[in-house]
Amino acid sequence: MGSDPSGMIKSLIMTTEIQEKSTMEYPKILVGKKALVSGVANKRSIAWGIAQALHAAGADIIFTYQGERLKPELEKVCEGVIDNPKMVELDVTNDDQLDAAFDTVAKEFDGKLDMMVHCLAFAPKETLQGGYVDTQRAHYAMAQDISSYSLAAMSRKARPLMQKAGGGSIITLTYLGAEKVIQNYNMMGIAKAALEAGTRYLASDLGPDNIRVNAISAGPVKTLAGRGIADFTTMLNHHAEKSCLKRNVTTEEIGGTALFLLSPLSGGITGEVLHVDCGYSIKG
Ligand SMILES: NC(=O)c1ccc[n+]([C@@H]2O[C@H](COP(=O)([O-])OP(=O)(O)OC[C@H]3O[C@@H](n4cnc5c(N)ncnc54)[C@H](O)[C@@H]3O)[C@@H](O)[C@H]2O)c1
Repeated sequence: MGSDPSGMIKSLIMTTEIQEKSTMEYPKILVGKKALVSGVANKRSIAWGIAQALHAAGADIIFTYQGERLKPELEKVCEGVIDNPKMVELDVTNDDQLDAAFDTVAKEFDGKLDMMVHCLAFAPKETLQGGYVDTQRAHYAMAQDISSYSLAAMSRKARPLMQKAGGGSIITLTYLGAEKVIQNYNMMGIAKAALEAGTRYLASDLGPDNIRVNAISAGPVKTLAGRGIADFTTMLNHHAEKSCLKRNVTTEEIGGTALFLLSPLSGGITGEVLHVDCGYSIKG
């Protein structure tokens, strides 16, 4: 990694850090469309960037939150942006909650769902430092369950609602660590590789129902999950320095791509992994 004498990269990273409320205006292409959005933990969450884009385009959203502890934060995030936000509890490791959450979605949305955002992941801290070779069986299982299997579980529950809507679009979030060895990403890289393969298998399974499944491979963003990776700041700096655009991606930009993939604008695209990383991944 080289130097940044002008401090430009640092200031761009800072811009990414403080960007919390989107100012983007989108055409109202999602009016009357219904979306389920998981993964908003706070205003820095990638899912919040996506939710704001969907909201700006006119979509009706139900948010999931992982546990009662996270509900007040979600309410706070929505304040001043989305009036009376609809919310339902969902810890993806709990099958009863999966059933109950999708029952609520069916009730709220008249049995129909057009879009689903899977924007969640977890791996124990021990697996995001040192070497992958040291990963314990229980940690491996937990990371795969939450970060990869959950996309299949949620898609299975969404399927009948999307069938009733005449089709649908599902997106998930991944990272370059699925394709290449990225220092400290370790276990999450393995889980993301499974997630990306899962995206393709689900796209094939659900395609006949006119349900599309795609993944966004985002560049690093300073979120709660991101900060769980050892030496994450070095990763951010390195990405900003090496990327074509010489900066890190914003959650607003990821939101714009999500809007594209979830809307009819991307009607012919399914099973894809789209890099939204300021061109980092194309560099040798
Ligand atoms: N931050 C990055 O640099 C980056 C880059 C590429 C991809 N991603 C991916 O983006 C997604 C969102 O992460 P983020 O960076 O916005 O962080 P975040 O911490 O804001 O969001 C992670 C979310 O996962 C949820 N979650 C964890 N375990 C769960 C469970 N058992 N049940 C339900 N929800 C659970 C959390 O509640 C939280 O809302 C993740 O899949 C992450 O791997 C992040």
